[in-house]
Amino acid sequence: SITGEQYRPNFHFTPKKGWMNDPNGMVFYKGEYHLFYQYYPDDNVWGPMHWGHAVSNDMLHWKHLPIALYPDNLGYIFSGSAVIDWNNTSGFGTLENPPMVAIFTYHNMEGERSGAIDFQTQGIAYSLDKGRTWTKYKDNPVIKNPGIKDFRDPKVMWFEKSKKWIMTLAVKDHVEFYSSKDLKKWEYESKFGSEKGNHDGVWECPDLFSLTDQNGVSKWVLLLSINPGGPQGGSATQYFIGDFDGNMFTTAGNETKWLDYGADNYAGVTFSDIPENDGRRLFMGWLSNWQYAREVPTYTWRSAMTIPRELKLNETKNGYFVTSKPVKELQNILLNGIVKTEKKFEVLNESYLLEFDKIKSDTFSVKLANTLNEFLEISITDNNLVVDRRLAGNSSFNDVFEAKHKAPLNGIIIKKVQIYFDKSSVEIFVNDGELVITDLVFPTETYKSVNNFGDIELVTIYPIDLIFDN
Ligand code: FRU
Repeated sequence: SITGEQYRPNFHFTPKKGWMNDPNGMVFYKGEYHLFYQYYPDDNVWGPMHWGHAVSNDMLHWKHLPIALYPDNLGYIFSGSAVIDWNNTSGFGTLENPPMVAIFTYHNMEGERSGAIDFQTQGIAYSLDKGRTWTKYKDNPVIKNPGIKDFRDPKVMWFEKSKKWIMTLAVKDHVEFYSSKDLKKWEYESKFGSEKGNHDGVWECPDLFSLTDQNGVSKWVLLLSINPGGPQGGSATQYFIGDFDGNMFTTAGNETKWLDYGADNYAGVTFSDIPENDGRRLFMGWLSNWQYAREVPTYTWRSAMTIPRELKLNETKNGYFVTSKPVKELQNILLNGIVKTEKKFEVLNESYLLEFDKIKSDTFSVKLANTLNEFLEISITDNNLVVDRRLAGNSSFNDVFEAKHKAPLNGIIIKKVQIYFDKSSVEIFVNDGELVITDLVFPTETYKSVNNFGDIELVTIYPIDLIFDN
């Protein structure tokens, strides 16, 4: 249709109208998960960036709120983070009512147009009413540009040992760490990365946090989005596992690790201030790719966020890896499971989870199809998890969309595969997130027919209804 509304997901976040890219400022406060996001309300393509805003109690049922941050004379509001300043180090609030502080990049468009290179700086703003209204700091920017074009996407965390805030900033082909006692005055600490990992594109949207593995060993994880250079071309997120001492990040290995092998999970970062008694590291990414994000066949709005995921550290015989599995809250939106033992069956809903257990890994293959002979094929071939979306539906909007995506199994023995389908996206989790592929698809009519070609005895369908009204 001309609106593309048939592609609007049932259980993924989308803006009501207009353009969205990166998730920003994700933070938990007083029972609410906050999602801010790169937003241009006046068109369905990228433009002057605002921070859109929504809140949720479970990261699934979202409530849209008014725009949080508007562009001003210092520039567009690019990506960044938010923290709760519990000790009121900034002085913006009180101990009784600590401020929520947003740390973001100002992108000065006139500067860029005039050919300058110093047009990205870092600014802050605060809210004293649970993120509903915001005041920009009067002495912005808090970090001036040192003379480098790509200088953006600050992710801030509290580092308890030195009682300082640490900012991780993406700077072209590396990250830089800055520290502060009050979120206003920042000091340069160190840099990392120009000789590590993938460098086929510019580094964006970093995130630094610690995770503990199944044996109680803690490591620091640094996420970094890169565009282009992803495993399927275009945008993707790589990560490093190492140590951080409050001043420097170090890592021994130099192999590139991808958080998600699909084409459509970018610029993802994790929530700040998840309570200690919860203790999870929660992640959401932008469900698109800069290669074609501006052209996908949805017109009233553009883009969704991924399913919220829990990140974990997993020690294996091949080293440490970060796994991502859907948050446990997703269980609550699954309708009653329907067990199927037939090779071919119909599903009645537009959105669903297909769960395959007890898989013999060399024979896995499943096709989701509609009555128009469009199909999406997910299989295990030559030790790769393969998603073939070449004949999956509408792909005429961009040449590179029609593709087959491969992810190496690297010795993973497949026991369980979960496929979440939501009208225009598929998210595949192998063994609770040891391997993940997130891809967009635009079937002309939804896939209601499932063809199970592998040696799999049973499949459970969990239908999912529309859970919030975008
Ligand atoms: C990543 C990104 C960020 C930037 C934002 C602008 O997708 O390019 O680096 O802050 O988008 O919208």
